[in-house]
Amino acid sequence: MPIVFHPTTNTFHLMNDTMSYILKILPDGSIGQLYCGRALRDKESFDELFETAARPMAVCAFEGDKTFSLEHIRNEFPGAFFGDMRMPAIDLKQENGSRVVRFRYKSHTIFSGKPKLEGLPATYVEHDDEANTLHIHVYDELLHVWATLQYTLYEKRPVLCRSVKVENAGSDTLVLDGLASLNLDLPDAGYDLIELTGAWARERSIKVQPLHEGIQSIYSLRGHSSHNFNPFLGLKRKETTETQGEALGFTLVYSGNFLAQVDVDTYNTARVQIGLHPFTFSWPLRRNESFQSPEAILVYSSQGMNVMSQAFHSLFRERLARGMWRDKPRPILLNNWEGTYFDFHEKTILEMAKAAKDLGVELFVLDDGWFEGRNTEHTSLGDWRPDMDKLPKGISGLADQINALGLRFGLWIEPEMINYHSKMYEQMPDWVLHTPNRPLSHGRHQFVLDFSNPDVVDFVFEMMKDILDHANIDYIKWDMNRSLSEVYSSHYPHDEQGTIYHRFILGVYDLYERLTSRYPNILFESCASGGARFDPGMLYYAPQAWTSDDTDAIERLKIQYGTSMLYPISSMGSHVSAIPNHQLNRSTPLSTRANVAYFGTFGYELDPRKMDEAEKEQIRKQIGFMKQYRSLIQFGTFYRLLSPFDGNETAWMVVSNDQKTAIVGYYRTLQEVNERYRRVRLQGLDPNTLYQIEGCDYDAYGDELMYAGLITTDASAGEHNLKAGEGDYLSRLYILRAR
Ligand code: DGJ
Repeated sequence: MPIVFHPTTNTFHLMNDTMSYILKILPDGSIGQLYCGRALRDKESFDELFETAARPMAVCAFEGDKTFSLEHIRNEFPGAFFGDMRMPAIDLKQENGSRVVRFRYKSHTIFSGKPKLEGLPATYVEHDDEANTLHIHVYDELLHVWATLQYTLYEKRPVLCRSVKVENAGSDTLVLDGLASLNLDLPDAGYDLIELTGAWARERSIKVQPLHEGIQSIYSLRGHSSHNFNPFLGLKRKETTETQGEALGFTLVYSGNFLAQVDVDTYNTARVQIGLHPFTFSWPLRRNESFQSPEAILVYSSQGMNVMSQAFHSLFRERLARGMWRDKPRPILLNNWEGTYFDFHEKTILEMAKAAKDLGVELFVLDDGWFEGRNTEHTSLGDWRPDMDKLPKGISGLADQINALGLRFGLWIEPEMINYHSKMYEQMPDWVLHTPNRPLSHGRHQFVLDFSNPDVVDFVFEMMKDILDHANIDYIKWDMNRSLSEVYSSHYPHDEQGTIYHRFILGVYDLYERLTSRYPNILFESCASGGARFDPGMLYYAPQAWTSDDTDAIERLKIQYGTSMLYPISSMGSHVSAIPNHQLNRSTPLSTRANVAYFGTFGYELDPRKMDEAEKEQIRKQIGFMKQYRSLIQFGTFYRLLSPFDGNETAWMVVSNDQKTAIVGYYRTLQEVNERYRRVRLQGLDPNTLYQIEGCDYDAYGDELMYAGLITTDASAGEHNLKAGEGDYLSRLYILRAR
């Protein structure tokens, strides 16, 4: 289904089987929004959806006409100070101090496919017939500024991508002080707002609250997308659940400061915006210069939140992530961090690797602490040469020995950071982001390199090349352990300081691009103190991300459940760690730790030498299980069933694309006395297929499992004495196979 333009009514209709997005060129030349929602059949005119009313006190565009007021019109690209009294999508400061802009329609182009966004991560197509693109060119005649409103609608996905490019064709220097990537004016505000909020070690909790008059916003001013607010906003109707009802999801393919907000006016309309955070963005646009915004993504579902999430999952998995690992089941790894922290030697690492190999692990990852003098958090970031006291044969020698054991080798690095105690800092103090004559705040005793300066990025690239060219490295964990502060770059003049936050991220993207192109076989995992940069921008370069520094299975239920609102299972780094857990001191059964970690990329983060024989045997079985089912888990369709935010139980499941196999994960946090009866209604099965349920002594058709439910009540629910394995932190996997 196409994007059509109806010249008689100046209407654009972007449509596929699931959604429609309708725009109209208005009498003043601006672009108005008529509709965004479930697919509508096309017709010449949707003018009835263009609502106006002669409202008292309104500021109006045309002399004598009290009905055409930008204040009350649903605008596609609202400018500041020109009659639209809500938050603008563009803020352009002119030499005379004015910020009034007036963009009028000039032309448009419609074509198949989707062009790249130069220098920025974005979704893509592999074949032009997967998507159609519309570019609407609007122009401010006084300023001689063009804006191109860019839309791509996927043919078979309920996904609309939206970005804006602004070009200065005039002779004045302008300053772009704000540019939303997407502006959507909904005709009513009868929605609940869904956010993913948190902090270190408790990222992406699902928060749902009704919209109310005024602005509701989430943001980052930290220089990374943050633990605190993920760049995601969801809107759902009151009656919408996981399985039914209307839901809209918005995200930004970006890893730095962002602002996402809903501005509900007192006429019950809701303006949704997502884009760069205007407070830390001020970009001079000289003659013939242009600026491209990051890409925003809008997903529409008329069938509940699971369908919304699944559209994000498959888009991110198939058309945002790239490279060799995109479609491959991920290697089962052992990471030494929680096993040793900084305290290790080659001998320790090789013993751990040998033990890991014996358990069935495929990839050994050496975390922080491998470079010169790095025995605490206080030192050495920037000096990326192996510590020969710890690793006498260097990284390449260690990699060879690990390879000789039959394991792949992976390495941790934190390329954007530096410690005062480092040779790099002694040589290049100006390469640290810092504001002249002001004290500099540390975070984890470290400082941030000025990645807005291309010389710094070049230097770090050469340094990483030196490591990667000389050692057999299959995996990189790219960490980033502090927020940016005192952001100022001595590389740029004073009137460019408003560009530094964005240039910093462009520098990070540039380094990622260079490394992923030069080393296409390396699997990159992004990380930022756990999940502070778990965002769509990162997924373009690194198909997986360390979900959280919290490895406790019970906390991970919430973190992974919340993360699944937007991100696919194949992107969630998830490890089994030792007990008592290092973040919470909680002890959970080994089975539960694995039953949670299976729903991710799966690995271990412990010292395998410290496990007893029974535990080792259990781990061998776990790894065997994951090898058998990881393709299904990482690339099947994921459904949330019971939310850990609602009570004591959590459940989720994945279903294979042919609906012949499914795995249900069921988790109960605390044991109840004399328990109630319990059932979980499954999803995504074929109603007419008879499933054998491993672990149950009966078969059932898909319809029974979905409409009556899978019984999860313990047989001994009312007994006084619990059997072994029962009690707190219980979990079970149910494997369903078509008979
Ligand atoms: C923070 C990461 O999230 C951890 O997994 C670990 O790599 C440490 N940094 C190492 O410093």
